Amino acid sequence: MNDAPPLDGPLLDGASGVEPILDRDESWARISRWFEDARVRRWYGGESHRCTPAQARETYRRRAIGESPVRAAFITHERAPIGYVQFYRVDAPEEYQLPPEHDVSRTWALDLFIGEPELWGRGIGGRIIELLCAHLEHELGAREILIDPRVENARAVRAYGRVGFEVVGRLRAYEEQDGVVHDGLLMRRLASGAAGQNVEK
Ligand SMILES: CC(C)(COP(=O)(O)OP(=O)(O)OC[C@H]1O[C@@H](n2cnc3c(N)ncnc32)[C@H](O)[C@@H]1OP(=O)(O)O)[C@@H](O)C(=O)NCCC(=O)NCCS
Repeated sequence: MNDAPPLDGPLLDGASGVEPILDRDESWARISRWFEDARVRRWYGGESHRCTPAQARETYRRRAIGESPVRAAFITHERAPIGYVQFYRVDAPEEYQLPPEHDVSRTWALDLFIGEPELWGRGIGGRIIELLCAHLEHELGAREILIDPRVENARAVRAYGRVGFEVVGRLRAYEEQDGVVHDGLLMRRLASGAAGQNVEK
C-alpha cells in the first residue's frame, strides 16, 4: 500500500509544475476535455477511450484526494492545468515482468500525459518528470523509478531518456488497446547512489 501523503502543494520549475488536483467539477471537466482529442487518446487510454466528466470524477477523484494507493496531480504550465500525472509504489515485480526476486520495496512508477498536443515537444514533460522524480527520491525515499512507454512512442522515450531513464527491457504483449496488443519498453531511473538490480529476463 501507498503510505505517502498526497501532494500538498505545487512543485514548480519556472513556468512548469505539478500541482494538486482540486476536487471540483472543473477539474473533471478538464480531464474529460483532454480525452476528447484523438491525439491524446492515441498515446494514453486508446483510440476508443471515452471519459465524460462524471467518469473522470469516478476514476480520478480518489487518487486526487489521497484515498487511493495511486497519487494523482495536474501538470501545469504558467499555473494552468495542461496534463495529468500519477505515481504509485510498485507492489510486485511481476507487474513489470521483472524476476520475482527483484526488490521493489523502494520502487515507484509514473504515468503521465500532457493533454494539449500543441505543448508537446517543448521540454515541459522533461522538466516535470525531473521535478517529480526528485520529489519521489528525496521526499519519499524512492531508489528506483519505472516508466513503461509503448515501444513506438518515440517522443516519450526520448523525453524520459533525457532525464535519466534507461531502457532496461522490452515488455512483451504488455497492453491491449482497441484489440491491438502492444509491446512496451521498461525504462528505469535510479536515485544517485542506488545499486541497479539486474533486470535481465
Ligand atoms: C510523453 C510526454 C509527456 C513528453 O512530454 P514533452 O513535453 O512532449 O517532452 P519533452 O519536450 O521534454 O521531450 C520530448 C523529446 O522528444 C523529441 N521529440 C518530439 N517529437 C518527437 C517525435 N515525434 N519523435 C521523436 N522524438 C520527438 C523532442 O525533440 C524532445 O527531445 P530533445 O529534448 O532531445 O529535443 C508528452 O509528449 C505527452 O504527453 N505525449 C502524449 C501522451 C503520452 O505519450 N504519454 C506517455 C505515455 S508513456
